[in-house]
Amino acid sequence: MKEIDAYVAGLYAPPDEALTAALRESEWAGLPRINVSASEGRLLQMLVEISGARRVLEIGTLGGYSAIHFARALPKHGALVSLEREERHAEVARRNVERAGLSERIEIRVGDARDALAGLVENGEGPFDLIFIDADKEGYPEYLAWSLRLSRPGTLILGDNAIREGSVIDPNDPSALAMREFNEKLAKDPRLSALILPLIRERIDGLAIARVR
Ligand code: SAH
Ligand code: DHB
Ligand code: MG
Repeated sequence: MKEIDAYVAGLYAPPDEALTAALRESEWAGLPRINVSASEGRLLQMLVEISGARRVLEIGTLGGYSAIHFARALPKHGALVSLEREERHAEVARRNVERAGLSERIEIRVGDARDALAGLVENGEGPFDLIFIDADKEGYPEYLAWSLRLSRPGTLILGDNAIREGSVIDPNDPSALAMREFNEKLAKDPRLSALILPLIRERIDGLAIARVR
């Protein structure tokens, strides 16, 4: 799987200086290596491009690797708001984003995503054109509910790690409970049209893609 992933990424998602530096600095700072893969980053960009998204919301910044992908795909006056609980992660991300020359398009908000999402709703900062959920997996069902409140018809709601090495098909795996609930909500909510796209990473995973009707 690793070799296949490397083959595809070598063709369609070759690394450049800013992305390589972002991963290197994240590693030096001791951040966990749980960023999206290079090919998934390309997929996120493609989804921004084909949806014409201008305002993107990300839940879970880490070192800004996926944020850099999003911001690069946005049109001139597009903007990304990215939510991150850990100040330490946000600090690394800000440096990575600055180095990539994207500070003007990316706003990182530090704090628990639940509070930040409530703030976005309260201040009427929605709707967003695309929302990428990639923070703590236990929070996914709640983040979906907030995302729907920050959506308009046509908004794309994406959920990373929808398959997680297949743990979601084990009904006895407690760590996968919330992800199962999230996937079922996406499948059943009449307001959404959804699917899961399986992805090759080091292990198998998937991206849930839902469109608000
Ligand atoms: N999207 C990133 C990876 C995010 S990893 C990328 O692909 O590059 C998940 C991040 O979510 C971590 O940085 C973690 O600190 C953050 N996180 C976890 N729980 C959170 C919460 N409740 N609110 C905000 N951020 C949270
Ligand atoms: C984990 C989290 C992620 O967002 C991811 O893409 C991969 C792994 C994790 O918490 O293990
Ligand atoms: Mg993820």
